[in-house]
Amino acid sequence: MTEPVFPMPRATPEATLFRDAMAGVASAVHVVTTIGPQGRAGLTANAVASVSDAPPTVLVCIARLSRTLALIESSGVFCINTLLGEDVELAEIFASRRGIDGEARFATRDWRQLTTGAPVLSDAVAAFDCRLVAAHDVATHRILIGEVVGLGGFGTKTAEPTSLIYRRRHFEAV
Ligand SMILES: Cc1cc2nc3c(=O)[nH]c(=O)nc-3n(C[C@H](O)[C@H](O)[C@H](O)COP(=O)(O)O)c2cc1C
Repeated sequence: MTEPVFPMPRATPEATLFRDAMAGVASAVHVVTTIGPQGRAGLTANAVASVSDAPPTVLVCIARLSRTLALIESSGVFCINTLLGEDVELAEIFASRRGIDGEARFATRDWRQLTTGAPVLSDAVAAFDCRLVAAHDVATHRILIGEVVGLGGFGTKTAEPTSLIYRRRHFEAV
């Protein structure tokens, strides 16, 4: 068999190569929240996707070590709050980069509730209030499937709101 003229991509890339490749892929940034007997909790996440519109369904992949994951599973509810371009600091807080935990992460902003009681950021691009309907472990993460039972956010007063994205390990507004 003839050798390929150009080097072929590696079939099983190293984790670092995978992460570098994925770092070039722009993604929206969200804060995923929940509420339970212990109060409110949440984390920054970009591994979020739409699954179906019949019924409206979304997914989020959360590291099994995340403290918020355990709380979502015990409450059975979560809200995906998609961030505006100006919300870098909020993303940093919920990514544990400011040394602020639990209820204190919510201190700087206005949060409401929709159907499930999970915290809804008033001035999000959009907020998807979900009931947890399935969970699947894959490698280091758990994929949470949520049926969307409420929609909110939309609170921005900006005429042309921007979205927060993460690309090449930096936040950008687009
Ligand atoms: C831009 C960005 C995106 C992230 N996306 C995810 C994600 O999709 N899933 C996840 O489990 N962690 C993600 N993280 C990391 C969590 O936000 C971080 O581990 C956080 O500390 C978890 O908090 P907790 O342990 O209080 O739940 C992301 C962090 C950043 C900065």
